[in-house]
Amino acid sequence: MAVLGIESTAHTFGVGICDNGRILANQKRMYPIKDRGMIPVQVANFHMRNAAAVIKDALDESGLGANQIDAVGYTKGPGLGPCLSVGHMAAKLFSARYRLPLMPVNHALGHIEITKQAFKLKDPLVLYVSGGNSQVLGLVERPFRHYQVYGETFDIGIGNMIDNFARAAHLVPAWGSTVAKAAEHGRYFEMPYTVKGMDFTFTGLLTHAEKSLKSHSVKDTAYSLQETSFAMLCEAAERAMLLSKKKELMACGGVAQSKRLKEMLGMMAGDHDARFFVSPNEFNADNGAMIAVVAEKMHMSGQRYGARALTINQRYRVDTVKVTW
Ligand code: FE2
Repeated sequence: MAVLGIESTAHTFGVGICDNGRILANQKRMYPIKDRGMIPVQVANFHMRNAAAVIKDALDESGLGANQIDAVGYTKGPGLGPCLSVGHMAAKLFSARYRLPLMPVNHALGHIEITKQAFKLKDPLVLYVSGGNSQVLGLVERPFRHYQVYGETFDIGIGNMIDNFARAAHLVPAWGSTVAKAAEHGRYFEMPYTVKGMDFTFTGLLTHAEKSLKSHSVKDTAYSLQETSFAMLCEAAERAMLLSKKKELMACGGVAQSKRLKEMLGMMAGDHDARFFVSPNEFNADNGAMIAVVAEKMHMSGQRYGARALTINQRYRVDTVKVTW
């Protein structure tokens, strides 16, 4: 069956189409982020202006007509309210126009399932790291089949922390790859390291890094910030691996594109004879294909939704979602 998925959590408006898991199209347009970050209403306006064109691009890429689509999925959350609303509305209009079932998809589940599918993983421990999210997750069967959160950030996502630091250090453009470049050949100095069990926090580290810019070079501060925050993620993931006894580790989300984080996670997995996988960058970035993939699994496993469930939820937690496939 052909399923069209719409993603609009943050700066990306993405539309993907899949057919029995095979990705036929993955189109997107991204709000151009200036160095002061995103204003949700402005991003939502961008999505509104581009929604119809991206849907058309995806249909063209797939070679299918709109009347050949069998179901529609959209991102219910978590994400920025105004942005989610636009994707929700676009999906609703499309499904009403062609009388198609509509599936509300959790964004994190999209990143996880498309990566599992790409590498044919069975039961990985997941490190999901992006701008707004940082979680260690794994599939459990009780009290219902779902992704349990073994550990997570108590404050901000690691991507937000890195972007905030980049702005404080006047790095342009202000995001992770620029910080990684600045960190090359940096020297380490000690920073606050906060892991509680499998949970962690980043705001104390960010404040320390920002203050350190007065006494240390950008290069050394960027390096120390990266090493400390990535080590925190590795420690939390390592503890979850030992607890869950899972033998596959996968990283997904925007920050999983970091070369240094991949290197550290790969070493850690190797220490425990586990295999390590990183999502392809096309799927680490927000995209519509991952929403289509999950929507298809939801539909194929018999899930159906009435109007009451077809909402958005800015804080839609992955551990509340029943995995029915
Ligand atoms: Fe994402």
